[in-house]
Amino acid sequence: MVKPIRETDGPRHVAIIMDGNGRWATQRGRPRLFGHHAGARRVREIVEACPDAGVKYLTIFAFSTENWKRTQVEVAGLMSLFRRYIAKETRALKSENVRVRFIGDRIRLDHKLVALMDELEQFTSTCTGVNLTIAINYGSRDEVARAVKRLAQDAAAGRLDPDTVNEETLTRYLDTHVLPDPDLVIRTSGEARISNFLLWQSAYAEYEFVDTLWPDFSAEEFTRLVEGYRARDRRFGAVKA
Ligand code: FPP
Repeated sequence: MVKPIRETDGPRHVAIIMDGNGRWATQRGRPRLFGHHAGARRVREIVEACPDAGVKYLTIFAFSTENWKRTQVEVAGLMSLFRRYIAKETRALKSENVRVRFIGDRIRLDHKLVALMDELEQFTSTCTGVNLTIAINYGSRDEVARAVKRLAQDAAAGRLDPDTVNEETLTRYLDTHVLPDPDLVIRTSGEARISNFLLWQSAYAEYEFVDTLWPDFSAEEFTRLVEGYRARDRRFGAVKA
């Protein structure tokens, strides 16, 4: 059943740093990948909570440009998890009217994974419900550097007048160019860091750092944080008036 997205006064775009899978697994005496699998199952629940919460855009940090420094076993396990996740969730995402996009540099990802990512983007391109953006091999500084490189190439080729370059120009070159800026950024697992996630885009975002480890993060907690954002926003409006 496709749910309409509830009209609210925000947040329209929520971004999440899904942290704590490793600790969650360690607490249970299991390998870290066990935690990542449990974390992947949480993604569906949060996506499904978006329409009722009034969230039209959800962006999740699945793998950073720094995560390659993990052991070969963990990196290979995560890549295999992404492939399986995409293959397994494709139909459900489409039937729930979820439009999926990926951000990050695909150059270092294996061809099979990139093909699945392209296919899922294409397959859900006509969906009009929640916009789910999954960041894989994503780093904000890397994204800005890639954007500036293409911008400079366009300027050198005469396609762009350097005198016209402003904030909006750079925004158009970012991986996120079709998305609005995040209104709320959530990080789980008690760490109060941004870790190179959507730095440019989150200049005016509200932040929520919660202690819950990602595999325990529930739709109820997500909805509570979204409602908390609205309460904060309304107070701000009252002060301004
Ligand atoms: C951080 O926890 C989590 C990651 C680096 C991977 C995130 C991946 C998932 C939630 C699952 C897959 C997602 C999709 C879209 C299929 P950590 O390993 O840094 O945890 P720790 O800080 O406790 O060690």
